[in-house]
Amino acid sequence: MSIFREDVLAGKVAFVTGGGSGICKGITRTLMAHGADAVIVSRSQEKLDEAAAALVAETGRACLGVAADVRQPETVEAALDAALERFGRVDLVVNGAAGNFLCPASQLSYNAFRTVMEIDTLGTYNVCRAAFDKALKASGGVILNISATLHYGATPLQAHPSAAKAAVDSLTRSLALEWGPLGIRVVGIAPGPIDDTEGIARLVPPDVRAKMIAAIPLKRMGTIQDIADLSLFLCTDAAALITGWTVVADGGAWLAAPALP
Ligand code: HXC
Ligand code: NAP
Repeated sequence: MSIFREDVLAGKVAFVTGGGSGICKGITRTLMAHGADAVIVSRSQEKLDEAAAALVAETGRACLGVAADVRQPETVEAALDAALERFGRVDLVVNGAAGNFLCPASQLSYNAFRTVMEIDTLGTYNVCRAAFDKALKASGGVILNISATLHYGATPLQAHPSAAKAAVDSLTRSLALEWGPLGIRVVGIAPGPIDDTEGIARLVPPDVRAKMIAAIPLKRMGTIQDIADLSLFLCTDAAALITGWTVVADGGAWLAAPALP
């Protein structure tokens, strides 16, 4: 049972990149379960259609899947237009689209580094910028950027996402400063390792898993629901004074780094 009222987000519309899978599908489910309608965005229309149907069945709210590549501003704008056409508003923007793989910096191709920077950092900016113009500047809202803790110290084999997420955190602060006067809060979440996700499948080899968990102060990985619940809090008026800040939700993992391989 949720500690929030089931209708706390009634009348709101969420636009969630990466919402067709993993953590951001969980975030979308929780926002919808609390009254929001949603638009989920990623490259694969097939994946989005399947996810949207499941989310509608689970929550009873409306959900539209729109294919777009966050690296391409014109597809992002088209997705926002589709969201506005269907629902007439966008109040909550979640930037969760990301790309990652383990690779030593010495072996990253120029394009590999650029690809992750483009999805995580430019993609986040593109969505913020388009959502600001088309919806948020007129009526305010919340932008939630999904970050990581990789860059708080330095994480081996993760130079590319570390640089990308550091830039995302910086953007969270800058946009909060500039857009706060318009009633737009810009916040972030930095999850630690979250179980049952593509990120963990890619980054944590099975033989490292038990050792990694043993090093986490709370002695467990996060769940998708942990991040979804925090997202809900940040999207409600319970967090009305929070902006520019990225909240760490990792069971203390980064304090005990190295938490990843
Ligand atoms: C080295 C790699 C590589 C790998 C791809 N590349 N995979 N280099 N090791 N394992 C290189 C390619 O060779 C290519 O460079 C360049 O990266 C672009 O690859 P493409 O496949 O053409 O890119 P694209 O189709 O756009 O796919 C992007 C992707 C892909 C990031 C590579 O994996 C993807 O779509 N990922 C989305 C899902 C995902 O990653 N989810 C996990 C998020 S978890 P060249 O030079 O050959 O052209 C996460 C967790 C953070 O972010 C923190 C956890 C604690
Ligand atoms: P995931 O399921 O793979 O989520 C990434 C999503 O991004 C996918 O739905 C993917 O869908 C979409 N995407 C990728 N490239 C895109 C592009 N160019 N344009 C539009 N959409 C794109 O992985 P996850 O593990 O749940 O991660 C979700 C978020 O949490 C990411 O921001 C990640 O960095 C962050 N995070 C995860 C962990 C973890 O432990 N898993 C820890 C810290 C932070 P398509 O393939 O359909 O495009």
